[in-house]
Amino acid sequence: MAKMPAAKAPKAPQVRATAESMATKQKEIAVSEFFAKNRHLLGFDNPRKALLTTVKEAVDNSLDACEEAGILPTLHVTIEALNGSAKVKPVPAQAKSKGLKLGEPLLIDDDPEAEPASAGGSDERPNLTNATRFKITVRDNGPGIVKQQIPNVFGRLLYGSKFHRLRMSRGQQGIGISAAGMYGLLTTGQPVQIVSKTGPRTKAHRFELAIDTLKNRPEITVDEQLDEWHAPAADVKEGQEKVRQGTSVTITLEGKFQRGRASVDEYLEQTAIANPHAEVIYTAPDGEVRIFPREVEEVPDTPDEIKPHPYGVELGVLMRMLKETEHKHLSEFLQKSFSRVTASVAGEICKAANKLGAATVTAQSWCSTIDHAQVEALHAAIQQTKIQNPPTDCLVPIGPQQILKGLLKELKAEFYTAETREPTVYRGNPFQIEVGIAFGGDLPKDEGAKVIRFANRVPLLYQPSACSITKAVIGTNWRNYGMSQPRNGIPEGPLVIFVHMASVWVPFTSESKEAVADYDEIRKEIGLALKECGRKLNTYIRRKQRVAREHQRRDVFEKYIGEVVAACEKMTTVDPKKLYEQLQTVARSRTVTADMQLDDEGNFIKPAARAGKLDGDANVVVIEREDNVDDQEVLVPGKSTGSSAKPDAGLFEEHEAA
Ligand SMILES: Nc1ncnc2c1ncn2[C@@H]1O[C@H](COP(=O)(O)OP(=O)(O)OP(=O)(O)O)[C@@H](O)[C@H]1O
Ligand SMILES: [Mg+2]
Repeated sequence: MAKMPAAKAPKAPQVRATAESMATKQKEIAVSEFFAKNRHLLGFDNPRKALLTTVKEAVDNSLDACEEAGILPTLHVTIEALNGSAKVKPVPAQAKSKGLKLGEPLLIDDDPEAEPASAGGSDERPNLTNATRFKITVRDNGPGIVKQQIPNVFGRLLYGSKFHRLRMSRGQQGIGISAAGMYGLLTTGQPVQIVSKTGPRTKAHRFELAIDTLKNRPEITVDEQLDEWHAPAADVKEGQEKVRQGTSVTITLEGKFQRGRASVDEYLEQTAIANPHAEVIYTAPDGEVRIFPREVEEVPDTPDEIKPHPYGVELGVLMRMLKETEHKHLSEFLQKSFSRVTASVAGEICKAANKLGAATVTAQSWCSTIDHAQVEALHAAIQQTKIQNPPTDCLVPIGPQQILKGLLKELKAEFYTAETREPTVYRGNPFQIEVGIAFGGDLPKDEGAKVIRFANRVPLLYQPSACSITKAVIGTNWRNYGMSQPRNGIPEGPLVIFVHMASVWVPFTSESKEAVADYDEIRKEIGLALKECGRKLNTYIRRKQRVAREHQRRDVFEKYIGEVVAACEKMTTVDPKKLYEQLQTVARSRTVTADMQLDDEGNFIKPAARAGKLDGDANVVVIEREDNVDDQEVLVPGKSTGSSAKPDAGLFEEHEAA
C-alpha cells in the first residue's frame, strides 16, 4: 500500500500590517532614487540607448548654451571603449584639417605618426562587439558654467535654468545631464568629470563628482582650479592648444556601441541637418572621425521668453499660483502672471466667474481670500473668455532656406523643398511646424520613406509610432503626390520627410523626450505643411514623368524610321538619307517635351520665357543627377519599368552607306 504523504504542519498565522506598522515604512522618496529605479523613463532602458542618450543630453546642452550666448557652436564628441579588445589610437590633429568630407571615415591606422592611446596599445583593430564600458566626452566652446553651479547642475536631478521659463530650447526639464551622470555612476562607479571655463581671461575649474541618490545632492571628489586648460591632443587644431572657454563633460558608463538605426551616428547626422550653424567633430570608439562641417555662419536668433497663456493653465496650477503670488489684487495677478491679459480682459474673466457662481469675485478681490469654489469658477471663466492668442514671435524656426541647406548637405537627393508654417497655439503654448522633403537621387527606392522628426532642433530617434509627427505622415494621402503608400502606412519610395516642431514647451510623451504627444492642433499643422510640400513634389514628379513618356514615344518612333525609309526606297526614287532626316525632324517636333530640361527649381527651361508653378519658388531646389529619367520610370504608377527602346543603329548605318 502506498505511503500517505505526511500531513502539512499548520501555517503560522500571518502578521498583517496595521496603519502604525505601515507608518514606520512611509517616507519621502528622493527624486534621484526614483529615477535610478525608473531609468527607462529617462531613456536609459538598455546599454545601446543609454550610450546614445548620454551623448544626446550633453550635445543638446552644449548647443543650447552656445546659442544662448550667441556663440557659433563647435563641439567635440569623443567616445572611447574601455574594454573589449579595443585599442584605439588617438586621431592626429593635423588629420582633421585635411578637409574630410562628411561621413568619410578617417582611418587613423593609416597615419604613421599616430601614437597609441594608452600604454600597451597596439595596431589591433578595436573589437567593439565585446566592449561594454565606454567613456564619453563632449566639449563645447560655449559660455561655460560658473564654479559654484557646476556641482548643482551635474550632481542634482531637476536642477537647471530652463524648467521655470517658457522659452524655446532643447532642454526643458533640468534632469538630462545629471541623469546621464547618475546612470554612469550606477553602472561603473565612476564619477562625472567636468572642466569649465567662462572666458579667455578666467581660470578653468575641474570637478569630479557623483550624485548621492538618497539626498539628490552632489558628492564632490575633485575640485581644482587649472592654470591652463589643454584640450586633448586629438582635438587640437593648430594654434588652439589652450581652450579659451567652454565646458567639457566626461561620463563613463556601461553601454553598447553600434552603428545604424538610432545610433550616435544617426543622431549626429540628423543634428547636422537641423543645425547647419553647428560644427561637430565626432570620434567613434573604433577610431573613425566624422566631421560635420558648419554650413551657416550665423547663430540663430535668441528666442524670447513668454508668460503662460491663461488657456493652458490647469486648475491645480492656478490654485498654487494664487497662493504664491506677490500681487495683491486679482486683476493685477491675472495681468502680470499671464500673457495677453489686459485690465479689461481680467474684468471680463471676473464677470464670467460671477455668472458661474463665484458671485463675490471682482477685479479688486484679494488673491489671498479666493477660496476653492472661486478658483474653480475663475478657471472655467478663463476658458469662456475671448483672449488673444499668445505672442508667437517668441519662436525661432529653422527657416526653409536653412532646412534646404541642411538637407542638401546631408542627403544626395534630386528634388528638395521646405516649408515653414505660421506659428499657432496648442493648450495656450505657441508652436510652429516646419517640413522639408528630399526626393529621388541616391535615396533608397525600395524602402519606406524615412521620416526624420525634430523637436526644437533635436532629432527624435525612438518611439516613432507614438509620435504625432508619424501619425500626421501616415494620415497624409501621398498617392495624391505621386508616391505609393500602403494602407495606414508611411509612403514608399526615395523620399526623406523632415518634420520640425518648435515650441516654448514641446509636449513630449515622457521625460525621455522621444515622441511628441498627439494633440489635434499639432497633427493638423504638420498635415498642412506636409500637403504644401507634397503638392510641389507632385508638380515635379508629373513633369519628370512627362519628359520620360515623351522619351519613350520618340524611341518607338525612331525605331521604325529606318524600316519606313527602307520601304519607301523600294517604292520610289526618294533619297533615303534625306527621308530619314525629315522623318526624324517630325519625330523630334512631335516629342519636344523629351528635350526639355528642368531647372534648379524644377521648372522646364524654356528657350523664350520661364513660367510654371514652381517658378520663382525659392523653397525648391533641383539637383541634376545622372539616370534621373530612368529613375523616374519606377515612379509612374501602374507602368512597366522595362528599358526604353533604342534607335536601330544597324538600319541607320545601312542607309547611310547607301
Ligand atoms: N555645456 C553647458 N554649458 C553651459 N551650461 C550648461 C551646460 N550643460 C548644462 N548646463 C546648465 O545645466 C543645466 C542643467 O542641464 P540638464 O541637461 O540637466 O537640464 P536642462 O538642459 O535644463 O533640461 P533637460 O533635462 O530637458 O535636458 C542647464 O539648464 C544649463 O543651465
Ligand atoms: Mg539638457
